[in-house]
Amino acid sequence: MKTIVVTSLSGGQGKTTTAYFLGKLLALESKVLFIDADPQSNLTFFLNHEVEPNAPTLLELIKDLVKGTEAVYSLNHPNQFLIPSDDGLSNAQEYLANSGMGAVILRARLKPLVNYFDYCIIDSPPARTQISIATVGAADFLLIPAEASTKGVNSLIRTLELVSNLEQLGAFTGTLAGVVPFRDKWFGLSQSKDSARAINAMKEITNGTTIFASILESERYKQALNQGSLLSELGYPDLERPFREMLRLFTTKQLMEK
Ligand SMILES: Nc1ncnc2c1ncn2[C@@H]1O[C@H](COP(=O)(O)OP(=O)(O)O)[C@@H](O)[C@H]1O
Ligand SMILES: [Mg+2]
Repeated sequence: MKTIVVTSLSGGQGKTTTAYFLGKLLALESKVLFIDADPQSNLTFFLNHEVEPNAPTLLELIKDLVKGTEAVYSLNHPNQFLIPSDDGLSNAQEYLANSGMGAVILRARLKPLVNYFDYCIIDSPPARTQISIATVGAADFLLIPAEASTKGVNSLIRTLELVSNLEQLGAFTGTLAGVVPFRDKWFGLSQSKDSARAINAMKEITNGTTIFASILESERYKQALNQGSLLSELGYPDLERPFREMLRLFTTKQLMEK
């Protein structure tokens, strides 16, 4: 199982959108475990899963109250599985902090699941918290979406700082797969100046890291999300380009064998 973590330290950067579309694409040919690590549980909602009262979620798995398989739910699509969250996940913060080894706990909890799935896609919460540290610690690959704006560039800078800190501590041992510009604005054939400036800044900051094709500013992503569809299924294959690029990267044999 290759664990791909979608993270960024601000809200509204495209994390849930990226986790959703990439996971759905990977699931066309591979077994995918989605993990919703955000107490806001947007991914759980978009994957159309309702958490029953007292049903195990990521919280119980983190606290080691259930086995990995007991927190996994099969979705109504072939190859798609979910460890959901609800707002109770905030209670994991204290547990992770008190454990003194929060950065490695999620990775350890997922170990028993590695033979069941090809990919695990983790959607992270939008702030520097114990949970986001635990998700980065569990990553084989990191994807950082960032809005094509000044706010997005600042969020990217802070996120890269966290990753670099965790790498120095030996808590992050994965690979930064790349940055995904989000809500890139185009008017016909011309890109907005703000978007162009922000994406250039992202290239400078990350020097040499992959910058994937942008997620364009468009209502169609929301439309697909709300319908539980892929963009290509709705007739917009061009809008799917960033996720196709990621798919190609993650299914490349060389990378997989790293
Ligand atoms: N391509 C897009 N253009 C404009 N808005 C979008 C697009 N894709 C998603 N959105 C909206 O942007 C908001 C933030 O996206 P989301 O993926 O939830 O970010 P995060 O998970 O980082 O908070 C959501 O309300 C979502 O519906
Ligand atoms: Mg989100």
